[in-house]
Amino acid sequence: MNNTVQLAWVNEAWDKALEKTRVNSLRIGAEFPHASQGGKYVLEGASWWTAGFWPGMLWQLYAGSGDESLKAIAEQCEERLDEVLDGYLKLDHDLGFMWILTSVANYKLTGSEQSRVRALKAANYLAARFNLKGRYIRAWNPWREGEDNSGVAIIDCSMNMSLLFWASEVTGDPRYRHIAEAHMDTVLEHFIRPDGSVYHIVNFDPASGEVAGKLGGQGYAPESAWSRGTAWALYGLSLAYHHTGKQSYLDGAKQVAHFFLTRLPEDQVPAWDFRAPSEIRELRDTSAGSCAASGLLLLAGQVEPSEADVYRNGALRITESLYRNYGTWDNADEEGLLLHGTSNYPEDRNIDVPLIYGDFFYVETLARIKEAGPYYWE
Ligand code: GLY
Repeated sequence: MNNTVQLAWVNEAWDKALEKTRVNSLRIGAEFPHASQGGKYVLEGASWWTAGFWPGMLWQLYAGSGDESLKAIAEQCEERLDEVLDGYLKLDHDLGFMWILTSVANYKLTGSEQSRVRALKAANYLAARFNLKGRYIRAWNPWREGEDNSGVAIIDCSMNMSLLFWASEVTGDPRYRHIAEAHMDTVLEHFIRPDGSVYHIVNFDPASGEVAGKLGGQGYAPESAWSRGTAWALYGLSLAYHHTGKQSYLDGAKQVAHFFLTRLPEDQVPAWDFRAPSEIRELRDTSAGSCAASGLLLLAGQVEPSEADVYRNGALRITESLYRNYGTWDNADEEGLLLHGTSNYPEDRNIDVPLIYGDFFYVETLARIKEAGPYYWE
């Protein structure tokens, strides 16, 4: 790709995302958007797993623009999350998604002591979900009375491990990192298939730690290949390599990246599940594309220069297509930045709509291309 042309579209894409987010911030304020329906982001409660993405996007855009109004809203969102952190009962493994993009982001950008403490509390709750026998972080709490899901681990949690790596880095106490490494070793052993595709859910016997089954979760079927889960694995393994330097994580990230890149359709934006039947494979998930693109750029910086282009060019192709073919820049009646995200096809929830994490990772990827960090997972 010609660098001059590339830079021109990237700056244009960044400016449009910034402008649109400024407008959105006037309506959304310190709330927690998830999926856009009929042009407006639906606002969720502070305990929903997506609560970090809007403030995280505001921090990223603030870091690249200096717009204090975005920072003020991100800080208010973080304060609102205290109720969830102190309430305890609604916390699950998504502590990482929620507090990396709020308190860790704030701490990295401003040095706030209060944010450091909040993120450390979140890291302690996350570490406490570790199952020693199975060497996994428990994903969820019971969704309904009587349900026992204490053996469930999910691929998404790979991203949450950055909170534990961060906690070890700031405290000098290696316990958090030990737990994160144990969980990521389990990801390599039980979630990644030989072809580089991944399982969404592995169910362990929580008492013995033995694998009891593997489930399709948000993918089409147990042996299919949910694209956002693939992106979580790619980026999560690359982050684990960033924090530890362990070769097995880099090898795993490359294996998953090769699967992802070689399954993309002509316009470079993934189907919601790479192995869904053809009649529903046309349905895309732009959030899987933007998340993978950010991970691919991190990965490109971790390999030999001779290998880096495969990942970097893959990320640029995805992102340019998201910008040109999926963006809403000419539609003032749509708050989402990217159309055609798929949240949960099997449960028929938020299909073919903008998703706040798709928007977040799109902005983060643009920041990576522009080298306008920091990136809060690292
Ligand atoms: N972490 C849930 C999802 O990716 O939809």
